[in-house]
Amino acid sequence: MVKATGIHHIAVMSADIKSHIEFFSDVLGCELSALFDMHGVPGGLHAFMHLNDHSYFSIVQLPDVADIPVEIGVTHAGSGAMPSAAGTMQHLAFRVDTADQLLAMRDRIRSKGVNVIGPLDHGMCQSIYFGGPDQMTLEIATPSGDFDPARWIDPAVLEKAGINAEEAERYKVPDAYDGEGGSVAQPPYDPDKPHQAYPKEMYQRMLETPDDVITRMGSYTEPPVKHDTVFEMVGAGRSCAIGCRDGVPLGSVARKSACRNTRSGCCQL
Ligand SMILES: [Fe+2]
Repeated sequence: MVKATGIHHIAVMSADIKSHIEFFSDVLGCELSALFDMHGVPGGLHAFMHLNDHSYFSIVQLPDVADIPVEIGVTHAGSGAMPSAAGTMQHLAFRVDTADQLLAMRDRIRSKGVNVIGPLDHGMCQSIYFGGPDQMTLEIATPSGDFDPARWIDPAVLEKAGINAEEAERYKVPDAYDGEGGSVAQPPYDPDKPHQAYPKEMYQRMLETPDDVITRMGSYTEPPVKHDTVFEMVGAGRSCAIGCRDGVPLGSVARKSACRNTRSGCCQL
């Protein structure tokens, strides 16, 4: 069965991408892994902050975002207990593996002068809560061990959500589809299905364009920093700032032949 197995990145809008990079690096300890002109989006900047080798927190800066007002209860929830428009992010919870790490993260965030509430024990996880840039509502959670969905899907809440027994069983066990080798064609436009909000004519043209043409026209595979430029930085005698999985020790002078670390910014070879 094919399914999404995690979040590669979640992208949050920003008026000032630097303030987000500063927060997620300095306060939360995420390394800046990528920052480039957003592919195919004139004026857009796109940043990726490293959570693990599979997941990034991402930030997008577009022109004129600063002119769009932040309105608690409309554009942003502002806290875990408040509403915002349907489809907007209510809150975002990062993960740590243990309760000790949860407290260590509370220490880290508080040591940067940011207030943190918690932990609260939700039974299936423990959580701490704090605010982020541009009024984001943030959480860090750690699992409380294996939990049994049979004890955490509340029949009374299924009823409140309008989910009947047959639907509940279907939601618990989705159909075991494996894909068809990428051969499924674009379905006809159906206004009742979800759609991206492109201008109508442009969207129709995109839907009519063969997939391989879209891929060819919309791909930007070259890193923005040329290999020679990076080599010159390292070749000038800079030391490895973090040590890396290629075995270059912390503080040693990185060599082109020895180091392929792509995260520290000092030895991207
Ligand atoms: Fe939560």
